Amino acid sequence: MKVIVLAGGSGTRLWPLSREFYPKQFLKINSNESLLQRTVLNFLTLVPPQDLIIVTNKNYVFHVKSDLKEKKIDLSHIILEPVSKNTAPAIALAAKYCLEKLNCDPEEVILVSPSDHIIKPKEKFITYINQGRKIAQKGYVVTFGVKPAKPETGYGYIKLREKQDNFYTAEAFIEKPDFEKAKRMVKSGNYYWNAGIFAFCLDTVLAEFNRHAPSIYRLLENNFEDLIHHFKEMPNISIDYAVMEKSDKLAVVPMNISWSDIGCWDALYEILEKDKHGNAKIGDILDIDTKNSLILGNKRLTATIGLEDALIIETDDAILIARRGETQKVRQIVKQLKKAN
Ligand code: GDD
Ligand code: MG
Repeated sequence: MKVIVLAGGSGTRLWPLSREFYPKQFLKINSNESLLQRTVLNFLTLVPPQDLIIVTNKNYVFHVKSDLKEKKIDLSHIILEPVSKNTAPAIALAAKYCLEKLNCDPEEVILVSPSDHIIKPKEKFITYINQGRKIAQKGYVVTFGVKPAKPETGYGYIKLREKQDNFYTAEAFIEKPDFEKAKRMVKSGNYYWNAGIFAFCLDTVLAEFNRHAPSIYRLLENNFEDLIHHFKEMPNISIDYAVMEKSDKLAVVPMNISWSDIGCWDALYEILEKDKHGNAKIGDILDIDTKNSLILGNKRLTATIGLEDALIIETDDAILIARRGETQKVRQIVKQLKKAN
């Protein structure tokens, strides 16, 4: 099995900490490991370094290399995309690399993982991945599911069909539904959240691209170097829309595990340890009569009085002050800033 770590996203939902040129996967959140370092170290308990491939944008190569160097991780395979085209082209490029550069057998399984999630405990997670690998060997497009906790609109939802030994076949995949639809799906109890991790044999995923995303598949006829050259012609689309929503080979491994994609500040608050007043604090913080708040300081002392459900994020050049529960709107700030520049 080869592990493909996707590290080319430009997520700015954790603004002002994450930026276009310093996205979430490189952040060290309350830890001495960045999310990318943590992801890679987890998978290196499963595969040797020569079987782990990072796919990223050429703009992030410096961050990737310095993260690896810091943890003394020696990887020979880092694929650089000349432009960002979202996850479907990134996965197609990695599949091509495996076949052409690593001489992989078409029946070999590739496991595709995001680089910016927190998943615990590691050992249990690796057990699920091994289950997924075996299911992928049967020709399935394997997803990994998490029990939905709320009608989140930023995730994919997987509708269950039939229970097998340790997995389900899936009937449908719905990427980023609107709130009403998400509410119905969570209520029905028949759906899992898509954790963003996939496993399939190389020949399965290529057949799926051929069937559901022919404009991607066509470019794969190039050799690897030419494919890099033509990469800008790829459609800009995620694997979820390009393949998952259309595939009839879906299976899901249900994971009973702590999983967070830290998609916004509220999600970070959920997973951080809180004091007896419900405050999650990082840095030099002095809080008086403050409850249920997330306070992330930087170099200065941050002092609060009489706050409830607040969110304060302080960085060198920007401060975010918001009400907890509304941090999805950080995107609006980023949009406005982009417009202004
Ligand atoms: N190499 C590369 N190139 N990586 C990319 C690119 C790209 O162009 N775009 C995104 N990525 C990486 C991100 O860095 C992240 O690790 C992963 O691919 C997923 O991309 P996101 O942009 O974070 O996707 P999402 O969170 O909106 O949605 C996906 O994840 C959810 C779970 O967190 C979907 O798979 C959803 O269905 C899923 O529920
Ligand atoms: Mg994400």
